[in-house]
Amino acid sequence: MGKSQINIFKESLLPKGGYKGGKSKAEVAALVGKKKVYKLSSNENYLGASPKAKKAIKSAVNDLNIYPERTAVRLRHALSKFYGGILKPDQFVTDNSGVALLEMIERAFLSPGNEIIVCNPAFKPYHMFAKKLGASVVDVPLKGKYYKLDIPNILKAVNKKTRLLFLCSPNNPTGTHISMEQLDELLPQLPAHVVTVFDEVYYQYADAEDFTTALPYVDAGMNVIAVNSFSKAYGLAGMRVGYGYTTEKLAKYISQLIRPFHLNTLAMDSAIAALQDKAYIKKTVDLVLTEKEYIYKALDKLGVKYWKTQANFITIKPKMKDKLFEEAMLKSGVMVRPVVNFGAPGCIRVTIGDREANQAYLRALKKVLK
Ligand SMILES: Cc1ncc(COP(=O)(O)O)c(C=O)c1O
Repeated sequence: MGKSQINIFKESLLPKGGYKGGKSKAEVAALVGKKKVYKLSSNENYLGASPKAKKAIKSAVNDLNIYPERTAVRLRHALSKFYGGILKPDQFVTDNSGVALLEMIERAFLSPGNEIIVCNPAFKPYHMFAKKLGASVVDVPLKGKYYKLDIPNILKAVNKKTRLLFLCSPNNPTGTHISMEQLDELLPQLPAHVVTVFDEVYYQYADAEDFTTALPYVDAGMNVIAVNSFSKAYGLAGMRVGYGYTTEKLAKYISQLIRPFHLNTLAMDSAIAALQDKAYIKKTVDLVLTEKEYIYKALDKLGVKYWKTQANFITIKPKMKDKLFEEAMLKSGVMVRPVVNFGAPGCIRVTIGDREANQAYLRALKKVLK
């Protein structure tokens, strides 16, 4: 091979340090020498996957020699049915996870010189790919102790270069939500060249009266793309399936970037079955709603600062360095997630588990804070 002076590595355009996902349960178990490890660091469904989805995977194994549908048409029809026919199959886009869909949306809309708006604390992947695409990131932080959307400053930040506005409700990592009133105020004021990406992957858990998904806004024909995932309430994080819904025009445009046969057969069949498993979603949501009240009470007793949640995790701010806190919790076999790289320094996000896991978490917390 000849020598070349051309540098192919563009480190400055790549996300610094990449996305740091948490450790696996097995890694932690080996590290701390414990048999029982409670993984409360990735907001997965503590009950496992929907039984209907597991059954579908078993029977789909017989068809692994056959390519799946090229554009996930079966899943898009199932989604249309799930949304009561309000949305047509052509209003859905699917991809190998919510994160993959977020990246596809950025690839579809961002060119050098464009801008995106994020509202920190926010899910890190929103701005992971923007730089590489030549776009810059404008942060309009959530404001006040309840992390509300700063509508006047979002509108001020919008200019001719803005292409995407990322909103998340319930928000990761704060667990807070954006009210219907705020969306009614903000969305109609955005110019037509700004597309709102509305990340609602935790929507099943929200119980606030003024909570809304993006459905009414998409149904009204606004430039809004809702992002959803099968990794959370459906318990299929290992299958990697995400979907979005939007106007037919935007869906058609984004879909041009979908790789043919992108969803594998097991992923597609499990997602379709999980959508129909209403009883399982109810069981999952009921557990989270019960357990969050149990955890609030214990946190109040311990005097730990936390934010009330609309999702399946509770973010706390212990009076201790986040890294030290994480390590101390690990020693008790409890995996939690510092969210400094999501723009929330000193905060720790803890997934709501079943009663056994939550008791293990609270026991470890008491010990660590002593
Ligand atoms: C706010 C938010 N959006 C999207 C995702 C993407 O999930 P997945 O890529 O597993 O579908 C996550 C996962 O943690 C999330 O918290």
